[in-house]
Amino acid sequence: MIRTPDGPAPAPAPGPTRPDHPTRPDHPAPAGDLAPAEHPARYEHPALPGELRWRRPRGADQARVLAVLDDWWGGFGGEAGSRQRALLLPRLFFQHFADTSVLGEAADGRLTAFLIAFRSAAQPDAAYIHFVGVDPALRRRGVAAGLYRWLFAQAAADGARRVEAITSPGNATSVAFHTALGFRIIPGQRTVDGVDVQVDVQVDYDGPGLHRIAFTRPLTHADTSPASAG
Ligand SMILES: CC(C)(COP(=O)(O)OP(=O)(O)OC[C@H]1O[C@@H](n2cnc3c(N)ncnc32)[C@H](O)[C@@H]1OP(=O)(O)O)[C@@H](O)C(=O)NCCC(=O)NCCS
Repeated sequence: MIRTPDGPAPAPAPGPTRPDHPTRPDHPAPAGDLAPAEHPARYEHPALPGELRWRRPRGADQARVLAVLDDWWGGFGGEAGSRQRALLLPRLFFQHFADTSVLGEAADGRLTAFLIAFRSAAQPDAAYIHFVGVDPALRRRGVAAGLYRWLFAQAAADGARRVEAITSPGNATSVAFHTALGFRIIPGQRTVDGVDVQVDVQVDYDGPGLHRIAFTRPLTHADTSPASAG
């Protein structure tokens, strides 16, 4: 115990209460979670489906998202796929890319959808969509399209002129979804079967054996307009 001339030192004051982290003076929130400003207005965009609550992700949401990945991806890629997906979403995305990302919850707080995206630090004209997932019970209702249009609007208004994304060969749903949203598949070194078509693949894109399909879509002034949410 630390002693002062007047007796034991007073206990340190507890830290500020954080809604996304249990308040324990001996177990403070990780430093990277201490994001300052919320941007609630950003999440009141007409592209975001109204029946769900949308907000900026926080560091503490990472564990909740990891917990649904295998279910939402339907075990795609087996154990290797599961390991790869979990490693693609370290906590830093929920800390440092929160303003260009969005998380949806049902009225009871259940996680329903998420989008992790960011503006390229090296290519100011580009935005990048890293991960998107929708609860299987809410599929084919335009939820993911709404999340993408929300990102298109933010990025286009901030000066981006294109948006990029990748997916794994074999994820035919993802290919169909991106194509429907106006993405073009970048020519690759090999093709694989897609839905009705052969799809170009970037061989070893993310490392030996980690082939990817790469998408790009231009952003125009029309993407900034709420009308593009339709
Ligand atoms: C891909 C995914 C995000 C799409 O979410 P969603 O909310 O169901 O998609 P939307 O309802 O917005 O679909 C928009 C359009 O994409 C296309 N599309 C979406 N899912 C499709 C499917 N299973 N088959 C064919 N086309 C599909 C359709 O053209 C659809 O429009 P329509 O329903 O009017 O025909 C969702 O299936 C998912 O979470 N999959 C698992 C995770 C994943 O693979 N993520 C992508 C790689 S990171």
